Amino acid sequence: MEQVDFLVVGAGIAGLSAAICLARVGRVMVVTKEELAESNTAYAQGGIAVAMGGEEDVALHLEDTMSAGDGLVNREAASVLVEQGPRRVEELLAWGTKFDRENGELMLTREGAHSRSRILHANGDATGKEIAVSLLRHVREMDSIELMEWTTGVDLLMEGGRVVGATLLDGEGGVRVVRAKAVLLASGGAGQVYSDTTNPAVATGDGIAMAYRAGAEVSDMEFYQFHPTAFSVPGAPRFLMSEALRGEGAYLVNAKGERFMERYHPLLELAPRDVVARAITHEGMDGEVYLDMRHVKKDLQTRFPGISKFLAKYRLELGRDLIPVRPAAHYLMGGVRTDVHGRSSLPGLYAAGEVACTGVHGANRLASNSLLEGLVFGVLAAEAMIADDGTQHEPVVEDQGGEVAAVATGSATGEKATERWIAELRDLMWKYAGLLRDAAGLQEAKRRLDALAVTMPRGMFRRALEARNLYTVAELIVAAALGREESRGAHYRNDFPERDAVARHSVMSKDGLKFVA
Ligand code: SIN
Repeated sequence: MEQVDFLVVGAGIAGLSAAICLARVGRVMVVTKEELAESNTAYAQGGIAVAMGGEEDVALHLEDTMSAGDGLVNREAASVLVEQGPRRVEELLAWGTKFDRENGELMLTREGAHSRSRILHANGDATGKEIAVSLLRHVREMDSIELMEWTTGVDLLMEGGRVVGATLLDGEGGVRVVRAKAVLLASGGAGQVYSDTTNPAVATGDGIAMAYRAGAEVSDMEFYQFHPTAFSVPGAPRFLMSEALRGEGAYLVNAKGERFMERYHPLLELAPRDVVARAITHEGMDGEVYLDMRHVKKDLQTRFPGISKFLAKYRLELGRDLIPVRPAAHYLMGGVRTDVHGRSSLPGLYAAGEVACTGVHGANRLASNSLLEGLVFGVLAAEAMIADDGTQHEPVVEDQGGEVAAVATGSATGEKATERWIAELRDLMWKYAGLLRDAAGLQEAKRRLDALAVTMPRGMFRRALEARNLYTVAELIVAAALGREESRGAHYRNDFPERDAVARHSVMSKDGLKFVA
Protein backbone atom coordinates (compact mmCIF):
# COMPACT_ATOMS: atom_id res chain seq x y z
CA MET A 1 0.00 0.00 0.00
CA GLU A 2 1.34 3.40 -0.97
CA GLN A 3 0.08 6.77 0.17
CA VAL A 4 0.24 10.08 -1.73
CA ASP A 5 -1.72 13.29 -1.36
CA PHE A 6 -3.08 13.32 -4.89
CA LEU A 7 -3.34 10.62 -7.53
CA VAL A 8 -3.65 11.71 -11.18
CA VAL A 9 -4.59 9.07 -13.75
CA GLY A 10 -3.39 10.26 -17.16
CA ALA A 11 -0.52 12.43 -18.35
CA GLY A 12 -2.01 14.51 -21.16
CA ILE A 13 -2.61 18.23 -21.01
CA ALA A 14 -5.28 18.04 -18.26
CA GLY A 15 -3.32 15.65 -16.02
CA LEU A 16 -0.03 17.51 -16.29
CA SER A 17 -1.60 20.97 -15.81
CA ALA A 18 -3.34 19.67 -12.70
CA ALA A 19 -0.20 17.98 -11.38
CA ILE A 20 1.80 21.21 -11.64
CA CYS A 21 -0.83 22.98 -9.54
CA LEU A 22 -1.22 20.13 -7.00
CA ALA A 23 2.54 19.76 -6.53
CA ARG A 24 2.69 23.17 -4.88
CA VAL A 25 0.86 21.77 -1.84
CA GLY A 26 1.46 18.03 -1.68
CA ARG A 27 2.88 14.79 -3.09
CA VAL A 28 1.42 13.88 -6.44
CA MET A 29 1.58 10.58 -8.31
CA VAL A 30 0.86 10.73 -12.05
CA VAL A 31 0.28 7.39 -13.77
CA THR A 32 0.13 6.75 -17.48
CA LYS A 33 -0.30 3.55 -19.48
CA GLU A 34 2.64 3.96 -21.81
CA GLU A 35 5.51 6.39 -22.14
CA LEU A 36 4.79 9.92 -21.01
CA ALA A 37 4.88 11.13 -24.61
CA GLU A 38 1.99 8.82 -25.64
CA SER A 39 -1.21 10.71 -24.85
CA ASN A 40 -4.05 11.90 -27.07
CA THR A 41 -2.71 15.42 -26.43
CA ALA A 42 0.49 14.62 -28.28
CA TYR A 43 -1.54 13.73 -31.40
CA ALA A 44 -3.43 17.05 -31.55
CA GLN A 45 -2.42 18.68 -34.80
CA GLY A 46 -4.41 21.75 -35.71
CA GLY A 47 -3.97 23.84 -32.62
CA ILE A 48 -5.42 25.43 -29.55
CA ALA A 49 -8.30 27.89 -29.90
CA VAL A 50 -7.94 30.92 -27.66
CA ALA A 51 -9.22 34.50 -27.73
CA MET A 52 -6.13 36.59 -27.00
CA GLY A 53 -7.61 39.81 -28.39
CA GLY A 54 -9.59 41.11 -25.41
CA GLU A 55 -13.22 41.14 -24.34
CA GLU A 56 -14.91 41.24 -27.74
CA ASP A 57 -12.76 38.37 -28.92
CA VAL A 58 -13.67 36.31 -25.83
CA ALA A 59 -17.38 36.99 -26.35
CA LEU A 60 -17.15 35.80 -29.96
CA HIS A 61 -15.31 32.64 -28.92
CA LEU A 62 -18.13 31.95 -26.46
CA GLU A 63 -20.78 32.41 -29.12
CA ASP A 64 -18.96 30.11 -31.58
CA THR A 65 -18.61 27.43 -28.87
CA MET A 66 -22.30 27.75 -27.98
CA SER A 67 -23.53 27.53 -31.54
CA ALA A 68 -21.29 24.58 -32.56
CA GLY A 69 -22.68 22.67 -29.54
CA ASP A 70 -26.18 22.68 -31.03
CA GLY A 71 -28.17 23.98 -28.04
CA LEU A 72 -26.64 21.70 -25.42
CA VAL A 73 -23.59 23.68 -24.26
CA ASN A 74 -23.41 24.51 -20.55
CA ARG A 75 -22.95 28.29 -20.77
CA GLU A 76 -21.19 28.52 -17.41
CA ALA A 77 -18.58 25.97 -18.48
CA ALA A 78 -18.10 27.59 -21.89
CA SER A 79 -17.70 31.05 -20.29
CA VAL A 80 -15.06 29.70 -17.91
CA LEU A 81 -13.26 28.07 -20.85
CA VAL A 82 -13.03 31.15 -23.04
CA GLU A 83 -12.42 33.62 -20.19
CA GLN A 84 -9.69 31.65 -18.43
CA GLY A 85 -8.12 30.32 -21.65
CA PRO A 86 -5.95 33.36 -22.42
CA ARG A 87 -4.40 33.35 -18.91
CA ARG A 88 -3.55 29.65 -19.17
CA VAL A 89 -2.03 30.11 -22.62
CA GLU A 90 0.08 33.05 -21.35
CA GLU A 91 1.33 30.65 -18.67
CA LEU A 92 2.28 28.11 -21.34
CA LEU A 93 4.18 30.81 -23.21
CA ALA A 94 6.00 31.73 -20.01
CA TRP A 95 6.97 28.05 -19.56
CA GLY A 96 8.57 28.08 -22.99
CA THR A 97 5.90 26.65 -25.30
CA LYS A 98 6.82 27.78 -28.78
CA PHE A 99 3.78 28.56 -30.90
CA ASP A 100 4.43 29.47 -34.53
CA ARG A 101 5.15 33.14 -35.18
CA GLU A 102 5.53 35.41 -38.19
CA ASN A 103 7.60 38.57 -37.75
CA GLY A 104 7.49 37.93 -33.99
CA GLU A 105 3.66 37.85 -33.86
CA LEU A 106 1.74 34.68 -32.96
CA MET A 107 0.26 33.12 -36.12
CA LEU A 108 -3.46 32.37 -36.04
CA THR A 109 -5.38 29.97 -38.22
CA ARG A 110 -9.08 29.26 -38.60
CA GLU A 111 -11.06 26.02 -38.43
CA GLY A 112 -14.66 24.90 -38.82
CA ALA A 113 -17.43 26.99 -37.16
CA HIS A 114 -15.00 29.65 -35.90
CA SER A 115 -16.06 33.16 -36.89
CA ARG A 116 -12.44 34.34 -36.98
CA SER A 117 -8.85 33.11 -36.97
CA ARG A 118 -7.97 32.35 -33.34
CA ILE A 119 -6.10 29.07 -33.39
CA LEU A 120 -2.49 28.98 -32.27
CA HIS A 121 -0.32 26.23 -33.68
CA ALA A 122 3.18 24.89 -33.16
CA ASN A 123 5.70 23.34 -35.54
CA GLY A 124 3.01 23.66 -38.22
CA ASP A 125 0.81 20.71 -37.35
CA ALA A 126 2.30 19.35 -34.11
CA THR A 127 0.68 21.64 -31.55
CA GLY A 128 -0.23 18.99 -28.98
CA LYS A 129 3.28 17.57 -28.96
CA GLU A 130 4.87 20.98 -28.34
CA ILE A 131 2.48 21.67 -25.44
CA ALA A 132 3.00 18.19 -23.94
CA VAL A 133 6.78 18.53 -24.16
CA SER A 134 6.81 21.91 -22.44
CA LEU A 135 4.43 20.77 -19.67
CA LEU A 136 6.57 17.68 -19.10
CA ARG A 137 9.70 19.79 -18.91
CA HIS A 138 8.02 21.80 -16.15
CA VAL A 139 6.68 18.70 -14.36
CA ARG A 140 10.13 17.05 -14.33
CA GLU A 141 11.52 20.04 -12.42
CA MET A 142 9.08 19.46 -9.55
CA ASP A 143 10.37 17.05 -6.90
CA SER A 144 6.95 16.39 -5.41
CA ILE A 145 5.63 14.78 -8.62
CA GLU A 146 6.25 11.06 -9.12
CA LEU A 147 5.74 9.98 -12.72
CA MET A 148 4.79 6.34 -13.26
CA GLU A 149 4.92 5.15 -16.87
CA TRP A 150 3.50 1.83 -18.14
CA THR A 151 0.94 1.80 -15.32
CA THR A 152 -2.75 1.12 -15.90
CA GLY A 153 -5.62 2.14 -13.65
CA VAL A 154 -7.61 -0.95 -12.63
CA ASP A 155 -10.34 0.27 -10.27
CA LEU A 156 -11.07 3.08 -7.88
CA LEU A 157 -10.69 2.34 -4.21
CA MET A 158 -13.89 3.07 -2.26
CA GLU A 159 -14.40 3.58 1.44
CA GLY A 160 -17.76 4.57 2.88
CA GLY A 161 -18.93 5.93 -0.48
CA ARG A 162 -15.77 8.02 -0.92
CA VAL A 163 -12.99 7.51 -3.46
CA VAL A 164 -9.77 7.07 -1.50
CA GLY A 165 -7.33 5.87 -4.15
CA ALA A 166 -7.01 3.29 -6.88
CA THR A 167 -5.62 -0.11 -7.70
CA LEU A 168 -3.05 0.00 -10.47
CA LEU A 169 -1.35 -2.55 -12.70
CA ASP A 170 2.33 -1.77 -13.16
CA GLY A 171 4.53 -2.59 -16.15
CA GLU A 172 5.76 -5.83 -14.55
CA GLY A 173 2.22 -7.11 -14.02
CA GLY A 174 2.18 -6.25 -10.30
CA VAL A 175 -0.99 -4.87 -8.68
CA ARG A 176 -0.38 -1.79 -6.52
CA VAL A 177 -2.80 -0.13 -4.18
CA VAL A 178 -2.36 3.63 -3.90
CA ARG A 179 -4.31 5.70 -1.41
CA ALA A 180 -4.81 9.43 -1.90
CA LYS A 181 -6.82 12.32 -0.44
CA ALA A 182 -8.27 12.88 -3.90
CA VAL A 183 -8.10 11.18 -7.30
CA LEU A 184 -8.18 13.03 -10.61
CA LEU A 185 -9.18 11.15 -13.74
CA ALA A 186 -7.46 12.79 -16.71
CA SER A 187 -7.23 9.68 -18.84
CA GLY A 188 -8.56 11.11 -22.10
CA GLY A 189 -11.03 9.65 -24.56
CA ALA A 190 -12.24 6.34 -25.88
CA GLY A 191 -11.81 6.41 -29.67
CA GLN A 192 -10.69 2.78 -29.61
CA VAL A 193 -14.30 1.77 -29.02
CA TYR A 194 -14.71 2.25 -32.79
CA SER A 195 -12.84 0.35 -35.49
CA ASP A 196 -12.13 3.64 -37.28
CA THR A 197 -10.53 6.28 -35.11
CA THR A 198 -7.90 8.99 -35.18
CA ASN A 199 -7.06 8.19 -31.54
CA PRO A 200 -3.97 6.29 -30.40
CA ALA A 201 -4.19 2.78 -28.93
CA VAL A 202 -4.22 4.12 -25.36
CA ALA A 203 -7.65 5.78 -25.78
CA THR A 204 -9.79 3.00 -24.32
CA GLY A 205 -12.11 4.94 -22.03
CA ASP A 206 -10.49 3.62 -18.83
CA GLY A 207 -11.38 6.60 -16.63
CA ILE A 208 -15.05 6.59 -17.64
CA ALA A 209 -15.36 2.85 -17.01
CA MET A 210 -13.56 3.05 -13.65
CA ALA A 211 -15.78 5.93 -12.52
CA TYR A 212 -18.98 4.23 -13.67
CA ARG A 213 -18.08 0.97 -11.94
CA ALA A 214 -17.44 2.90 -8.74
CA GLY A 215 -20.94 4.41 -8.97
CA ALA A 216 -20.24 7.85 -10.49
CA GLU A 217 -22.62 9.52 -12.91
CA VAL A 218 -21.62 9.78 -16.57
CA SER A 219 -23.25 12.12 -19.02
CA ASP A 220 -23.88 12.65 -22.77
CA MET A 221 -22.18 9.43 -23.85
CA GLU A 222 -24.15 9.35 -27.11
CA PHE A 223 -22.23 12.38 -28.39
CA TYR A 224 -19.16 11.00 -30.15
CA GLN A 225 -17.53 13.42 -32.54
CA PHE A 226 -16.46 11.93 -35.85
CA HIS A 227 -13.67 13.97 -37.41
CA PRO A 228 -14.67 14.51 -41.04
CA THR A 229 -11.27 14.09 -42.61
CA ALA A 230 -9.21 11.10 -41.54
CA PHE A 231 -6.96 9.57 -44.22
CA SER A 232 -8.78 6.87 -46.15
CA VAL A 233 -6.72 4.31 -48.01
CA PRO A 234 -7.37 0.60 -47.42
CA GLY A 235 -4.91 -0.81 -44.91
CA ALA A 236 -3.50 2.62 -43.96
CA PRO A 237 -3.95 4.14 -40.48
CA ARG A 238 -6.81 6.61 -40.09
CA PHE A 239 -4.31 9.44 -39.74
CA LEU A 240 -5.83 12.83 -39.03
CA MET A 241 -5.93 15.28 -41.94
CA SER A 242 -6.23 18.33 -39.72
CA GLU A 243 -9.14 20.69 -40.04
CA ALA A 244 -6.47 23.37 -40.40
CA LEU A 245 -6.03 22.12 -44.00
CA ARG A 246 -9.54 23.41 -44.67
CA GLY A 247 -8.72 26.47 -42.59
CA GLU A 248 -5.89 27.16 -45.05
CA GLY A 249 -8.24 26.77 -48.02
CA ALA A 250 -8.67 23.05 -48.81
CA TYR A 251 -11.85 22.12 -50.70
CA LEU A 252 -13.81 18.91 -50.29
CA VAL A 253 -14.62 17.26 -53.61
CA ASN A 254 -16.53 14.10 -54.48
CA ALA A 255 -15.71 11.33 -56.95
CA LYS A 256 -17.06 13.49 -59.81
CA GLY A 257 -14.71 16.29 -58.81
CA GLU A 258 -17.60 18.48 -57.54
CA ARG A 259 -17.10 20.80 -54.58
CA PHE A 260 -20.19 19.65 -52.70
CA MET A 261 -20.36 21.47 -49.33
CA GLU A 262 -22.54 24.27 -50.76
CA ARG A 263 -25.38 21.73 -50.77
CA TYR A 264 -25.01 21.21 -47.00
CA HIS A 265 -24.08 24.43 -45.16
CA PRO A 266 -23.41 28.13 -45.88
CA LEU A 267 -20.01 27.89 -44.18
CA LEU A 268 -19.00 25.28 -46.79
CA GLU A 269 -15.84 23.36 -45.79
CA LEU A 270 -15.74 25.31 -42.50
CA ALA A 271 -19.18 24.23 -41.34
CA PRO A 272 -19.44 22.55 -37.90
CA ARG A 273 -17.74 19.16 -37.77
CA ASP A 274 -20.89 17.07 -37.43
CA VAL A 275 -22.36 18.65 -40.57
CA VAL A 276 -19.18 18.09 -42.61
CA ALA A 277 -18.81 14.51 -41.38
CA ARG A 278 -22.37 13.62 -42.41
CA ALA A 279 -21.96 15.38 -45.77
CA ILE A 280 -18.80 13.35 -46.51
CA THR A 281 -20.56 10.13 -45.50
CA HIS A 282 -23.43 11.00 -47.83
CA GLU A 283 -21.21 11.91 -50.78
CA GLY A 284 -19.00 8.90 -50.03
CA MET A 285 -21.84 6.53 -50.88
CA ASP A 286 -21.05 7.20 -54.56
CA GLY A 287 -17.26 6.92 -54.36
CA GLU A 288 -14.26 8.53 -52.71
CA VAL A 289 -14.22 12.00 -51.17
CA TYR A 290 -11.04 14.06 -51.33
CA LEU A 291 -9.36 17.08 -49.83
CA ASP A 292 -8.19 19.25 -52.69
CA MET A 293 -5.49 21.89 -52.15
CA ARG A 294 -4.28 22.15 -55.73
CA HIS A 295 -5.48 25.75 -55.90
CA VAL A 296 -3.78 26.84 -52.63
CA LYS A 297 -0.68 28.89 -53.33
CA LYS A 298 1.20 28.36 -50.06
CA ASP A 299 4.21 26.36 -49.00
CA LEU A 300 2.10 23.50 -47.64
CA GLN A 301 5.07 21.25 -46.86
CA THR A 302 6.38 23.87 -44.42
CA ARG A 303 2.96 24.67 -42.97
CA PHE A 304 2.03 20.99 -42.51
CA PRO A 305 5.28 19.03 -42.08
CA GLY A 306 3.80 16.11 -40.10
CA ILE A 307 0.93 15.52 -42.51
CA SER A 308 3.26 15.91 -45.51
CA LYS A 309 5.67 13.33 -44.08
CA PHE A 310 2.82 10.90 -43.52
CA LEU A 311 1.43 11.41 -47.04
CA ALA A 312 4.85 10.91 -48.61
CA LYS A 313 4.71 7.27 -47.49
CA TYR A 314 1.73 6.90 -49.84
CA ARG A 315 3.39 8.97 -52.60
CA LEU A 316 0.87 11.76 -52.07
CA GLU A 317 1.58 15.47 -51.72
CA LEU A 318 -0.62 18.32 -50.47
CA GLY A 319 -1.15 20.85 -53.26
CA ARG A 320 -0.34 18.30 -55.97
CA ASP A 321 -2.66 15.35 -55.27
CA LEU A 322 -6.21 14.73 -54.16
CA ILE A 323 -6.12 13.27 -50.62
CA PRO A 324 -8.78 10.57 -49.92
CA VAL A 325 -10.62 11.16 -46.64
CA ARG A 326 -13.63 9.96 -44.66
CA PRO A 327 -14.80 10.38 -41.05
CA ALA A 328 -13.37 8.54 -38.05
CA ALA A 329 -14.18 8.61 -34.33
CA HIS A 330 -12.23 11.47 -32.81
CA TYR A 331 -13.51 12.97 -29.57
CA LEU A 332 -16.06 12.08 -26.88
CA MET A 333 -18.13 15.04 -25.74
CA GLY A 334 -19.60 12.94 -22.93
CA GLY A 335 -17.84 11.42 -19.96
CA VAL A 336 -17.69 11.53 -16.17
CA ARG A 337 -20.25 14.11 -15.12
CA THR A 338 -18.57 17.02 -13.30
CA ASP A 339 -19.15 20.62 -12.33
CA VAL A 340 -16.79 23.25 -13.73
CA HIS A 341 -14.37 22.49 -10.90
CA GLY A 342 -14.02 18.87 -11.93
CA ARG A 343 -16.03 17.50 -9.01
CA SER A 344 -17.76 14.25 -9.94
CA SER A 345 -20.85 12.84 -8.20
CA LEU A 346 -18.55 10.82 -5.87
CA PRO A 347 -16.66 12.55 -3.05
CA GLY A 348 -12.91 12.31 -3.57
CA LEU A 349 -13.22 11.81 -7.33
CA TYR A 350 -12.49 14.54 -9.89
CA ALA A 351 -12.22 14.47 -13.67
CA ALA A 352 -10.85 16.89 -16.27
CA GLY A 353 -10.25 16.94 -20.02
CA GLU A 354 -11.82 14.54 -22.49
CA VAL A 355 -12.70 11.96 -19.80
CA ALA A 356 -14.97 14.53 -18.14
CA CYS A 357 -18.29 16.00 -19.17
CA THR A 358 -18.81 19.55 -17.93
CA GLY A 359 -21.18 20.15 -20.85
CA VAL A 360 -18.68 22.66 -22.29
CA HIS A 361 -18.93 21.15 -25.78
CA GLY A 362 -22.63 20.35 -25.75
CA ALA A 363 -23.52 18.03 -28.62
CA ASN A 364 -20.58 18.94 -30.84
CA ARG A 365 -17.17 20.32 -29.87
CA LEU A 366 -15.86 23.42 -31.61
CA ALA A 367 -12.58 22.61 -33.39
CA SER A 368 -9.42 23.08 -31.30
CA ASN A 369 -11.32 23.70 -28.06
CA SER A 370 -10.08 20.42 -26.58
CA LEU A 371 -6.51 21.40 -25.71
CA LEU A 372 -7.87 24.55 -24.09
CA GLU A 373 -10.37 22.43 -22.16
CA GLY A 374 -7.59 20.26 -20.70
CA LEU A 375 -5.55 23.30 -19.75
CA VAL A 376 -8.35 25.28 -18.11
CA PHE A 377 -10.29 22.50 -16.40
CA GLY A 378 -7.15 20.61 -15.32
CA VAL A 379 -6.12 23.62 -13.23
CA LEU A 380 -9.66 24.20 -11.90
CA ALA A 381 -9.96 20.57 -10.82
CA ALA A 382 -6.59 20.76 -9.04
CA GLU A 383 -7.70 23.91 -7.22
CA ALA A 384 -10.90 22.16 -6.10
CA MET A 385 -8.95 19.09 -4.92
CA ILE A 386 -6.80 21.37 -2.79
CA ALA A 387 -9.72 23.42 -1.50
CA ASP A 388 -11.86 20.39 -0.65
CA ASP A 389 -8.88 18.95 1.25
CA GLY A 390 -10.16 15.35 1.50
CA THR A 391 -9.78 13.87 4.93
CA GLN A 392 -7.13 11.20 5.29
CA HIS A 393 -8.61 7.87 6.34
CA GLU A 394 -7.00 4.98 8.09
CA PRO A 395 -6.13 2.38 5.48
CA VAL A 396 -9.08 -0.02 5.55
CA VAL A 397 -9.05 -1.59 2.11
CA GLU A 398 -12.18 -3.60 1.82
CA ASP A 399 -14.61 -1.88 -0.49
CA GLN A 400 -12.85 -2.09 -3.85
CA GLY A 401 -15.74 -3.85 -5.58
CA GLY A 402 -15.95 -7.30 -7.08
CA GLU A 403 -14.42 -6.25 -10.39
CA VAL A 404 -10.78 -6.67 -9.45
CA ALA A 405 -11.50 -10.22 -8.37
CA ALA A 406 -13.48 -10.85 -11.54
CA VAL A 407 -10.60 -10.01 -13.84
CA ALA A 408 -8.03 -11.66 -11.62
CA THR A 409 -9.56 -15.10 -11.13
CA GLY A 410 -10.11 -17.92 -13.59
CA SER A 411 -7.71 -18.72 -16.38
CA ALA A 412 -6.64 -15.70 -18.36
CA THR A 413 -7.88 -15.25 -21.91
CA GLY A 414 -5.14 -15.65 -24.52
CA GLU A 415 -3.66 -12.64 -26.29
CA LYS A 416 -5.06 -13.50 -29.72
CA ALA A 417 -8.53 -14.26 -28.40
CA THR A 418 -8.52 -10.95 -26.53
CA GLU A 419 -7.55 -9.04 -29.67
CA ARG A 420 -10.26 -10.84 -31.69
CA TRP A 421 -12.84 -9.99 -29.04
CA ILE A 422 -11.84 -6.32 -29.00
CA ALA A 423 -11.89 -6.17 -32.81
CA GLU A 424 -15.43 -7.60 -32.84
CA LEU A 425 -16.61 -5.00 -30.35
CA ARG A 426 -15.02 -2.14 -32.32
CA ASP A 427 -16.52 -3.35 -35.61
CA LEU A 428 -20.03 -3.66 -34.22
CA MET A 429 -19.83 -0.20 -32.68
CA TRP A 430 -18.72 1.32 -35.99
CA LYS A 431 -21.44 -0.50 -37.89
CA TYR A 432 -24.40 -0.01 -35.55
CA ALA A 433 -23.60 2.93 -33.25
CA GLY A 434 -21.52 5.17 -35.53
CA LEU A 435 -22.20 8.38 -37.38
CA LEU A 436 -25.74 7.53 -38.54
CA ARG A 437 -27.96 5.62 -36.15
CA ASP A 438 -31.44 4.17 -35.82
CA ALA A 439 -33.35 2.05 -33.32
CA ALA A 440 -32.93 -1.20 -35.26
CA GLY A 441 -29.14 -0.79 -35.55
CA LEU A 442 -28.74 0.26 -31.94
CA GLN A 443 -30.83 -2.72 -30.79
CA GLU A 444 -28.59 -4.95 -32.87
CA ALA A 445 -25.53 -3.37 -31.21
CA LYS A 446 -27.07 -4.10 -27.83
CA ARG A 447 -27.84 -7.70 -28.77
CA ARG A 448 -24.28 -8.27 -29.98
CA LEU A 449 -22.80 -6.63 -26.90
CA ASP A 450 -24.90 -8.91 -24.71
CA ALA A 451 -23.53 -11.89 -26.62
CA LEU A 452 -19.95 -10.62 -26.29
CA ALA A 453 -20.34 -10.30 -22.52
CA VAL A 454 -20.25 -14.10 -22.24
CA THR A 455 -16.70 -14.25 -23.62
CA MET A 456 -15.36 -11.08 -21.98
CA PRO A 457 -11.54 -11.42 -21.76
CA ARG A 458 -10.33 -12.41 -18.30
CA GLY A 459 -7.05 -11.89 -16.52
CA MET A 460 -5.00 -9.20 -14.84
CA PHE A 461 -3.21 -7.90 -17.93
CA ARG A 462 -3.58 -4.58 -19.68
CA ARG A 463 -5.54 -5.69 -22.76
CA ALA A 464 -8.07 -7.62 -20.65
CA LEU A 465 -8.60 -4.51 -18.51
CA GLU A 466 -8.94 -2.38 -21.63
CA ALA A 467 -11.41 -4.86 -23.15
CA ARG A 468 -13.56 -4.60 -20.04
CA ASN A 469 -13.40 -0.78 -20.15
CA LEU A 470 -14.22 -0.62 -23.87
CA TYR A 471 -17.20 -2.86 -23.20
CA THR A 472 -18.51 -0.52 -20.49
CA VAL A 473 -18.05 2.53 -22.73
CA ALA A 474 -19.78 0.75 -25.63
CA GLU A 475 -22.73 -0.21 -23.44
CA LEU A 476 -23.05 3.38 -22.21
CA ILE A 477 -22.92 4.85 -25.73
CA VAL A 478 -25.53 2.41 -27.06
CA ALA A 479 -27.90 2.90 -24.12
CA ALA A 480 -27.74 6.70 -24.32
CA ALA A 481 -28.02 6.69 -28.13
CA LEU A 482 -31.11 4.48 -27.93
CA GLY A 483 -32.63 6.73 -25.28
CA ARG A 484 -32.08 9.96 -27.20
CA GLU A 485 -34.88 9.96 -29.77
CA GLU A 486 -33.82 13.13 -31.57
CA SER A 487 -30.93 14.31 -33.75
CA ARG A 488 -28.61 16.88 -32.24
CA GLY A 489 -24.98 17.69 -32.99
CA ALA A 490 -22.91 14.56 -33.38
CA HIS A 491 -25.83 12.25 -32.51
CA TYR A 492 -27.85 11.64 -35.68
CA ARG A 493 -30.85 9.30 -35.70
CA ASN A 494 -32.20 8.43 -39.17
CA ASP A 495 -35.49 7.55 -37.47
CA PHE A 496 -35.64 10.81 -35.47
CA PRO A 497 -34.03 13.42 -37.76
CA GLU A 498 -35.49 16.46 -35.93
CA ARG A 499 -34.13 18.23 -32.88
CA ASP A 500 -36.29 18.35 -29.72
CA ALA A 501 -37.49 21.78 -28.62
CA VAL A 502 -35.81 21.37 -25.23
CA ALA A 503 -32.14 20.43 -24.93
CA ARG A 504 -31.45 17.79 -22.29
CA HIS A 505 -28.34 16.01 -21.08
CA SER A 506 -28.36 12.25 -20.65
CA VAL A 507 -27.17 11.08 -17.24
CA MET A 508 -26.34 7.47 -16.50
CA SER A 509 -25.36 5.68 -13.34
CA LYS A 510 -25.94 2.22 -11.97
CA ASP A 511 -29.49 3.48 -11.23
CA GLY A 512 -30.18 3.76 -14.96
CA LEU A 513 -30.59 6.45 -17.63
CA LYS A 514 -32.35 9.79 -17.24
CA PHE A 515 -32.47 13.03 -19.20
CA VAL A 516 -32.09 16.37 -17.44
CA ALA A 517 -32.42 19.94 -18.74
C1 SIN B 1 -7.60 18.93 -36.14
O1 SIN B 1 -6.44 19.33 -36.26
O2 SIN B 1 -8.41 18.89 -37.06
C2 SIN B 1 -8.05 18.43 -34.81
C3 SIN B 1 -8.26 19.53 -33.89
C4 SIN B 1 -9.38 19.19 -32.95
O3 SIN B 1 -9.76 18.04 -32.81
O4 SIN B 1 -9.94 20.12 -32.38
